[in-house]
Amino acid sequence: MVLPRKYHPIIYVIASISAIGGLLFGYDTGVVSGAILFIREDFHLSDLQTEIVVASILFGAIFGALLTGRWTYYLGRKKLIILGAFIFAAGTLLSALAQSISTIIGGRILLGFAIGGTSMVVPLYISEMSPPKIRGLLVSLNQVMITAGIFISYLVNLYFAEYGLWRYMLGVAILPAILLGIGMLFLPESPRWLLRQGLENRARAILFYIHSAELAELEFNEIKMTVQPDQRIRPPIFQKKYFIPLIIGIGLAIFQQITGINTIIYYAPLIFKMTGLQSNVIAILATAGVGLVNLLMTLVAVQLIDRIGRRPLLLFGVGGLFFSLWMLGLSFFITSPSPLLGWITAICLFLFVASFAISLGPIFWLLISEIYPLAIRGRAMSVATVVNWVANLLVTVTFLTLIGHLGKAYTFWLYGIITIGCWLFIYFLIPETKGRRLEEIEQSWKNK
Ligand code: BGC
Repeated sequence: MVLPRKYHPIIYVIASISAIGGLLFGYDTGVVSGAILFIREDFHLSDLQTEIVVASILFGAIFGALLTGRWTYYLGRKKLIILGAFIFAAGTLLSALAQSISTIIGGRILLGFAIGGTSMVVPLYISEMSPPKIRGLLVSLNQVMITAGIFISYLVNLYFAEYGLWRYMLGVAILPAILLGIGMLFLPESPRWLLRQGLENRARAILFYIHSAELAELEFNEIKMTVQPDQRIRPPIFQKKYFIPLIIGIGLAIFQQITGINTIIYYAPLIFKMTGLQSNVIAILATAGVGLVNLLMTLVAVQLIDRIGRRPLLLFGVGGLFFSLWMLGLSFFITSPSPLLGWITAICLFLFVASFAISLGPIFWLLISEIYPLAIRGRAMSVATVVNWVANLLVTVTFLTLIGHLGKAYTFWLYGIITIGCWLFIYFLIPETKGRRLEEIEQSWKNK
């Protein structure tokens, strides 16, 4: 990955350490696809119990995101990430050492709780620490780590699968959790949060530590001006002046999920088997291929996000989602299970994931960390994040039922139709935030 050199190296350290939260998000959501096969056997689980184990992390995430919004205000960004690391470690130990299915579920809910919280605080923290010109790159490092986590979990699953060592599959996540907790102890708090708490001197010192003197001075004055009128006041977030940014965050949260990404991330082996493929191993290998494309294209996205901008990437990527979903539907419609169908499906899934990785994947999390005024940033991000996890849960639990009722072709076409709505939503509502300072973006809503 190419990192611009003219910035102080500390900001890369800050982004990389805090984005370990993203690695855990990706790992803990991805690992269950392999581990569940063995947990199911060991504990003789019914279908319903299996679904509960898989979905428990999503339930946890909804509540984690719900509560974190408030805590970003009281505790600050840094302490919350440390708390998240602690919960990650506890959830990992609980689920990996569990002797009963309810303990596994409890552990997974805890993990979900940490994921829900860090999935919003990490982008928020990085966004507030970044120089505007490379904010897209730095915040999207979190998405790079999410996709790396998913990919690594597939590889770890493959490695331990031969002996069915599911406790190891779940357990290795303890290492990044410890790293995140210890690493964060050494990083500074967000100067924006400090200024909002009235801690001017500390905020100033941190800004001068992480930015050039010129940018630090500019940001210090601008943030001060932004927070001064309503310092320590927590305005209600549901009011007219915040309406458009709220709609943008909530809409994009829903579209990121209901265009179907996690039907592929969570069920790829099953989709490959629908094409007539017999071998489990090849299905899992092909899934690892999907994970790799996701990671590589996210790396491409982070290079482009601050150059081309958020809007063009979103519009292009969502166009790609539409195309690949229609192709996928068509191939299931006109061909019966065969090796040819297997290949076409693989190409469509790669194309789909690549399109997501350069658009909705990183840019949803980036935009919700940029578009909200400081006074409501934490809580508004929390609303968008909760909606994202709820939509994720709904898609995950309805996918197989949809396939059962509508058939494969119409199910993928349905997601395809949704991408048209998503494209129009982006075209008409999403502003370009490339290169603008957070306070400039905040001001632009007032001007509207
Ligand atoms: C989404 C996740 C998804 C992941 C895939 C994230 O941005 O929020 O739901 O599993 O991307 O890369």
